[in-house]
Amino acid sequence: MGDGNNKKTISGFSKLSKRGKIKWIVENFFKDPETVMHELKDYLLPREEHQKIMDTISENTISNFPMPYSVAPNFIINGEAYCVPMVIEESSVVAAASAAAKFWMKRGGFHAEMKSMKKIGQVHFLWHGEEEQLVEVFPELNRVFREKTRDLTVNMEQRGGGILDITLRNMTDRMPGYYQIFATFDTCDSMGANFINSILERFSKILEDYLWSHPDFSGKAKEVEVMMSILSNYTPESIVRAEVRCPIDELGEVEGFSSRQFAERFKRAIDIAHIDPYRATTHNKGIFNGIDAVVLATGNDFRAVEACGHTYASRTGQYRSLTHCTIDGGEFVFWLDLPISIGTVGGLTKIHPIAKRSLELLNHPSAEELMMIIAVTGLAQNFAAIRSLVTTGIQKGHMKMHLHNILIELGATEYQKQMAVEYFKEKVVSFSSVRQYLEGIKNT
Ligand code: MEV
Repeated sequence: MGDGNNKKTISGFSKLSKRGKIKWIVENFFKDPETVMHELKDYLLPREEHQKIMDTISENTISNFPMPYSVAPNFIINGEAYCVPMVIEESSVVAAASAAAKFWMKRGGFHAEMKSMKKIGQVHFLWHGEEEQLVEVFPELNRVFREKTRDLTVNMEQRGGGILDITLRNMTDRMPGYYQIFATFDTCDSMGANFINSILERFSKILEDYLWSHPDFSGKAKEVEVMMSILSNYTPESIVRAEVRCPIDELGEVEGFSSRQFAERFKRAIDIAHIDPYRATTHNKGIFNGIDAVVLATGNDFRAVEACGHTYASRTGQYRSLTHCTIDGGEFVFWLDLPISIGTVGGLTKIHPIAKRSLELLNHPSAEELMMIIAVTGLAQNFAAIRSLVTTGIQKGHMKMHLHNILIELGATEYQKQMAVEYFKEKVVSFSSVRQYLEGIKNT
């Protein structure tokens, strides 16, 4: 493979020092090892204790990957003002969230409420005895599950949470012998992944021991095979609603459309995202632009949040919009139902120095409050996107940001930037057109 001196595989990489890892990488994968070595080192954090935190969060770290840390002010949620932290690499997202926040600030702000807050975990197992036998012993097994996990649940119970419900699910119509222990949990302000998974793994051991040692069971009824024990990232019962509403007239004229025309075009755009999965995917992607940015900024698991949201969006058998809009009796109502499981204690939320600051910026929210803030940001993002799409189109706003980025990349002075913004107001922005323009004004 390529140059004979290059070694693209290695054993014991994780045992190398950071210096050793960087050296091996740059020497074997890059054309200019010296420059890359300096770049990777430049992005290590200057304070050793901070870098150590980054290195404990993941493995085989060789540098850091910076992302912009932004804030979107003026979010009024249930009457409280928030300045929302956002980590996102896409231009226009923060500007759009801020614009939507400001728009709704003047119209009563956002309303958000928790509908429920249950987390779910499953033990998937195979069992080939009679169903009635299992059903018969299940109440006793249920009691043993609770009793023998007391050491794991005691702290959570003191905080007001713990195991809520444990049920047996017969899945044999879909796979011979397939059953589940289906448990629900309240994990208070933590996301609760470790809590739930530890309990489930204990459940699986209890289940095996119980069925093996039960005096009434023999033959196949003794044979239980646990396949896996793991929480479900699908939490349709940990759900928050974020909403805005106002009389249509209060929407005002939007980019040349009357308030009624705007409201109707807006509603139709939401309806299209309920009808067509192609549109729904892009529509929901825009919602997650807002959601993920806050989830990341607060040190939460955006993959779990995305997976859950997309499953929920498909719950009717077709992938649909997560937002809804009605125009009823002259009132415009727009809302998002978001199933989401995040935490404000535990995990990265208390380790990552900036995630900690994000939570402080939000006045140390409970998990419920943070869920509402996240849902509201998703709703705001969707409002801003649809508002642009059904009026001016999104390229106008995007191109303004794009122009800004190009001007920075080309090293334009403040004066040149002002000139360029004026010049490109009605013109198509591209890297070459901006470079040409800058060269032109530099030569005059
Ligand atoms: C771009 O990141 C997001 C949008 O495409 C969302 C949408 O189309 O609704 C603008």
